[in-house]
Amino acid sequence: MSLETIDLSVTIGDKQILNNMTIKLERGEVLILMGPNGSGKTTLAFALLGHPKYQINKGKIILDNNDITDYPTYQRALMGLGLAFQNPVEIPGLRLSMLLNAIQMKKSGSSFDISSIDPKLIIWARNKTRELGLQPSFLEREVNVGFSGGEKKRSEMLQILTMDPKYIILDEPDSGLDVDGIKLIGETIDSLRSAGKGILIITHHAEITKFVSPDKVMIMSKGKIVDEGGIELIKKIEEYGYKDYEGVQ
Ligand SMILES: Nc1ncnc2c1ncn2[C@@H]1O[C@H](COP(=O)(O)OP(=O)(O)O)[C@@H](O)[C@H]1O
Ligand SMILES: [Mg+2]
Repeated sequence: MSLETIDLSVTIGDKQILNNMTIKLERGEVLILMGPNGSGKTTLAFALLGHPKYQINKGKIILDNNDITDYPTYQRALMGLGLAFQNPVEIPGLRLSMLLNAIQMKKSGSSFDISSIDPKLIIWARNKTRELGLQPSFLEREVNVGFSGGEKKRSEMLQILTMDPKYIILDEPDSGLDVDGIKLIGETIDSLRSAGKGILIITHHAEITKFVSPDKVMIMSKGKIVDEGGIELIKKIEEYGYKDYEGVQ
């Protein structure tokens, strides 16, 4: 069981962003993807989820042996793909608890009904918010409105835990977090792996590997995978940056 891209090429408008990307993420595995700013990491995340602006002009996306290349986003989500955004959007007027309730209803196939909130979900969510270092009162706030960068990252993780997808793409889950936050998020990711999830972490920081050790590391540059290996690649980048990869195509 795996999430794969085969020779995936993606354009935004008439600009070619990703070229022939082949990656494979197994369940129970953590893959860390690194690359300089603008190399196409977020584009890959959006393309995996089927954002309509990101056009696949070559290649395929395979989820547990199903070709989902042309599937709409909601179907990919229902099949077990989840994404935590690099820049979570603010949703004025929608309480976080309502969003979690909607996620749970959609997951269980029941029709959406805002008048009933599952009390068990609320108890669960209160505990999880605390575990993620947020006050339970965050559940009654509008999604991400006025949240700090770190609070948004914790709230994204709470939404992912509610979705409970089979494959989780985390686009810079550690950016803007303090050291305690990185530990919390790292440990949460590690326990999700133990629960059999496949996890793709996009990051710029080695810090998170103190708490979750990757099974694989991939480096991308200019829309291509330029190196693959283990944690030693992260150490190399920490020390030397990406200059060794500049000429690699
Ligand atoms: N909506 C968009 N319109 C035009 N160009 C875009 C858009 N989104 C991303 N890009 C461009 O695609 C390239 C890759 O961006 P991105 O995937 O965000 O990189 P990363 O996440 O690695 O920093 C960049 O050159 C960026 O400017
Ligand atoms: Mg990005």
